[in-house]
Amino acid sequence: MPAKLRLMARSTGKKAKKPAPNTMWGGRFTVPPAAAMTAINASVSFDKRLAAQDIAGSKAHAAMLAKKKIITVSDNAKIQQGLDKIAAEIRAGGFVFSDALEDVHMNIEARLAERIGEPARRLHTARSRNDQVATAFRLWVREALTHFDAALEDLQKALIVQAERNAATAMPGLTHLQPAQPITFGHHLLAYVEMLGRDRSRAQAARARGNECPLGAAALAGTPFPIDRAMTAKALGFAAPCANSLDAVSDRDFALDYIYCAAVTAMHLSRLAEEMVIWSSPQFGFVQLPDAWTTGSSIMPQKRNPDAAELVRGKAGRVFGALGGMLAMLKGLPLAYNKDTQEDKEGLFDTAATIMLCLTAMTGMAKGMKADKARMLAATERGFLTATDLADWLVRKLNMPFRDAHHVTGRAVKLAEQKNRRLDQLKLADLRKIEPRVTADVFKALSVQTSLRARTSFGGTAPENVKAAARDARRKYLSARKGRA
Ligand code: ARG
Repeated sequence: MPAKLRLMARSTGKKAKKPAPNTMWGGRFTVPPAAAMTAINASVSFDKRLAAQDIAGSKAHAAMLAKKKIITVSDNAKIQQGLDKIAAEIRAGGFVFSDALEDVHMNIEARLAERIGEPARRLHTARSRNDQVATAFRLWVREALTHFDAALEDLQKALIVQAERNAATAMPGLTHLQPAQPITFGHHLLAYVEMLGRDRSRAQAARARGNECPLGAAALAGTPFPIDRAMTAKALGFAAPCANSLDAVSDRDFALDYIYCAAVTAMHLSRLAEEMVIWSSPQFGFVQLPDAWTTGSSIMPQKRNPDAAELVRGKAGRVFGALGGMLAMLKGLPLAYNKDTQEDKEGLFDTAATIMLCLTAMTGMAKGMKADKARMLAATERGFLTATDLADWLVRKLNMPFRDAHHVTGRAVKLAEQKNRRLDQLKLADLRKIEPRVTADVFKALSVQTSLRARTSFGGTAPENVKAAARDARRKYLSARKGRA
């Protein structure tokens, strides 16, 4: 036999020792799937994470079937008990998942049949695995969004506490990573609290948008059985059933929303992580990261490496990858269900594990980091941070147009640079050579503390503002832990 034919024979299972075709759908098949077919088809190794959600969906479905007299009350009772027992088996780690049964849904249904017999075979009336998996996955993602939101709140809290401690801690504010103007460390940290606040509102919106129930869409077209989709939707805590059966079984934008939310957060966390790496380097020395979130080197005894921060920075990449992967997988799929969408899970599960771990690590670092206020203050003395304050003084006291004041200040900075002095260490006589109308009270304006205190515009860095902003952030973000499903 030519090699090509031999291969085909093997892949169609002709040489196999006649194991039975799949018991769940094998009625029209005469030979079992090729080994690699089973391998490519099986998802149970990863979708077993949906077991609790699958069982919840099946229980709601069976109860509705009984209520609508599609199955008997006694069959429903057996199904409910059987599923509860299986849930306990799975929790106890005693459940054996089999690749031959493809996915978590068929594994559980097959086990139910082992336990209760015929009633189990009525459970799949008026539903399909297509609406079954869409329902279970939505339940999983919904819960993941709730945990995500809570973890974001934990990090916000840690940052707010540090901001309160450092409301008046002066540090150099940077643009282009170059010294720009004095700011407070508290103000800097509260910037992240705002970013995380938007991350939370994105997560809450995603949760609300995805909170519709696909169950009862059946394979794609609905079902002739007199089901009550509102009843199952309500039992599972959804706001409503999905309005269109084709949409219900085929779209995965709710999963995409989750990954996008996580990707934005991963991006935000990577920025804070990068700052922690910079701040904790001896050259900066602005913060010390806690022992519990740093590591030593096996060769250089002096080292304290910010590995956790670096990993948070690095792990953003795999979350972005999952987002691209999910978009590419969904692109161009015709309605309705396609097996491609089985590929929606691993990227999302990995994203969830990654982002939750990153949030835990970041919260640990944020809680335990210690600001070195003296080092930060010393750093404000380099880089002419109050040059803008000098220009502002010229505008206000001498009524100079800002562009002219900018030019005069530039010359003062050049002079200070030549003399290797700070701006406030220049002599009044030197400044008067540049602008004769300058008076001695200009020096007050050149101090870092005056500069900070003056920035009282809404959202500005003045210590009084930062204290108030921290209070507002507490009220806005940390008040209502309750009311979360
Ligand atoms: N494991 C499948 C998935 O995740 C379940 C749906 C399979 N449906 C089907 N008709 N083959 O998408």
